[in-house]
Amino acid sequence: VGDTLALTPPMGWNSWNCFADHVTAEDVRTTADLFVKHGLRNHGWSYINIDDFWMTRPPPDDALWEKLAERAIERGYAPLKIPGADDLPRLAGPARDGEGRINANPRFADMQGLVDHVHSLGLKIGIYSSPGPLTCGRCTGSFGHEEQDARRFAEWGFDLLKYDWCSYRFFTPPYDRISKTELQRPFIVMHEALAKQPRDIVFSMCQYGLGDSWEWGADVGANLWRTTRDIIDTWSSMSGIGFSQSELAQYTGPGRWNDPDMLVVGHVGWHAARRASRLAPDEQYTHVSLWSLLAAPLLIGCDLTKLDDFTLNLLTNDEVIAVNQDPLGRAARRVARDRNLEVWARPLADGSVAVGLFNRGELPAKVTARWDNLGIHGARVVRDLWRQQDLGSFEGEFSAEIPRHGVLLVKIRRAEKIVDKNKQGE
Ligand code: GLA
Repeated sequence: VGDTLALTPPMGWNSWNCFADHVTAEDVRTTADLFVKHGLRNHGWSYINIDDFWMTRPPPDDALWEKLAERAIERGYAPLKIPGADDLPRLAGPARDGEGRINANPRFADMQGLVDHVHSLGLKIGIYSSPGPLTCGRCTGSFGHEEQDARRFAEWGFDLLKYDWCSYRFFTPPYDRISKTELQRPFIVMHEALAKQPRDIVFSMCQYGLGDSWEWGADVGANLWRTTRDIIDTWSSMSGIGFSQSELAQYTGPGRWNDPDMLVVGHVGWHAARRASRLAPDEQYTHVSLWSLLAAPLLIGCDLTKLDDFTLNLLTNDEVIAVNQDPLGRAARRVARDRNLEVWARPLADGSVAVGLFNRGELPAKVTARWDNLGIHGARVVRDLWRQQDLGSFEGEFSAEIPRHGVLLVKIRRAEKIVDKNKQGE
């Protein structure tokens, strides 16, 4: 029996880009409430994912720091930065209780209440950990407590676990000598622990830059795997990541997804200024179009308390979302490129094809999608998915003027056969 989890890419929100190390249970609860208030829930958005910093952090005098610092030197890594005591109060507390169960930090004092609240709204909730003793944010990880943590996450009622490599590197050979088995091991351990729980938990693997984890992510039980470094809300970060994914299309399918990281749309910044995404509107259309074509998980990375009409519109276009959620689960590839102009295509379950005409250049330009490159022939109806409008019937090719950093996302289908009712049955 194949995996029956995440048969389409997970859609939801993740706390990292907007709340980072400041995240509180209140932020998470409010986001879930806003999923309902703004109707996101009705468009398929369902996961509310807590990223790093929900757990405690070992105090500076904890023996663990010294042990890891030594290992860092042995392996030739940069010296380990031990966080100062002043950073502790909001993350303070024993890492685990008397029975070894992982504790949340004071900002998540009532984890059970939070999980129950999110579930009461008909939404799902995700959590984060690391196979090392520390997470990327140097909070408590699952090392040596994998089964116990899997059980705890299941008892609380979590529906997804993001499992982030990070400090596990102190327990493997240096990266120039690490084997595939060593890269896979901690994910197999956690997958087996999750599989024993009486609850379906989507397994999201985070390990990038160390090898071709997309080639074996599904074999170690992951439903999604990060394929790139962390995204930030700039054109070069987003487009650099998104347009680099063509070769990875073959690894995607129902239950197994490439994860090019969060959607940096809307109000992303968590710094004092709490700034809006530095992506221009056309760049945000490109971002959501490309992630939809790539069959990527759609995880909103913005502060929903600052949601504006543009962003809400960007996230609630059902025809665009349907491309992302297409049940065939095939990801787009680049089918044509002329310098800054690119055409990407994704076959859909109904036999039509979703096509992105992209202009990565600095000036408006005409982009052409040729039927030859799409593997189709004859007359086809082209539909603009953002505007939800048929643009007409075309044969051989379709061209459009695309703004700087912009996109036209279309669906190309056979013209409907016109059935003459009077002649039926003859
Ligand atoms: C890594 C991951 C990010 C985020 C942070 C949390 O950088 O790639 O997505 O989870 O850790 O510390």
